[in-house]
Amino acid sequence: MFRFDFAQETRSCSEVNVDEKNSDDGLEWISAKQITPLYEDITLPEAWGLVKFNGLEIYYILPSEIISLSESYKDILAADIITAKYEGGLKVWDCTHHLANYITSNISPVDFKNKTVLDLGCGHGLLGILSIKLGASSVEFQDYNEDVIKIVTIPSVLKNLIPDVSSVPCKFFSGDWLSFSQLNNNRYDIILTSATIYNTNNYKKILKVFKMNLKHNGLILIAAKTYYFGNGGGTRQFEEAVERDGVFQTEVLWTSVEGVQQEILKITYKIK
Ligand SMILES: C[S@@+](CC[C@H](N)C(=O)[O-])C[C@H]1O[C@@H](n2cnc3c(N)ncnc32)[C@H](O)[C@@H]1O
Repeated sequence: MFRFDFAQETRSCSEVNVDEKNSDDGLEWISAKQITPLYEDITLPEAWGLVKFNGLEIYYILPSEIISLSESYKDILAADIITAKYEGGLKVWDCTHHLANYITSNISPVDFKNKTVLDLGCGHGLLGILSIKLGASSVEFQDYNEDVIKIVTIPSVLKNLIPDVSSVPCKFFSGDWLSFSQLNNNRYDIILTSATIYNTNNYKKILKVFKMNLKHNGLILIAAKTYYFGNGGGTRQFEEAVERDGVFQTEVLWTSVEGVQQEILKITYKIK
């Protein structure tokens, strides 16, 4: 039988906890916490993948390196998502590639210079890393699973930002969006989020993060499939949730032309 067995002794970090239950929908969601990396104690993998987004090179951790830490990660990677236990962050999803290509292209309307950025549901954190390369003044990374933050996000940030890692303020958070929005009262200029709107049960929580953590003149870019088969979520469903909520307005910035349809949505506060 599949056993969820994230290794405990992953990477060296200190932690701050928020003691809060998070079980709105009957599921036991993990509470948010901040994870502070001790960069000097981290041993980086030797082999890395390399991907280019409009000329900007980013290293990412290969699945084989993840599995080398524990065989149980093989099952976790194959499972894709196990609701409220593992939410997909060990893999780099296609939507990240689309959003990364978009923000590094000359059609992007987003200027990252001196902006504060949140990479929400970051997984490997490639979008946050790119934001730093595009001039962001600080980037915060959030993923549901603490092990994802320790195994892939923090090492990727370290690898891609050496030797400047200490000159760019980065923070890392794990746990559920609901308690994250309560733990973290920072407001960001830009929130980037990719492959995160597949589960309609999470829409209220995501909107709560947006309302609690986006500056009044800030913007959000979401990359997602138009429809997630089996999950019920997708860009139209999310637009409807945004409309019902009444606080934000949405605009489709980009739509894929081949394969499963994917989109990039821009979200800003409604003009009153
Ligand atoms: C499919 S993964 C996408 C990872 C990454 N953004 C990418 O595109 O490669 C979905 C991400 O959403 C986050 N997520 C999903 N549900 C969440 C929840 N209830 N609370 C916090 N994070 C959640 C997880 O952190 C997970 O990494």
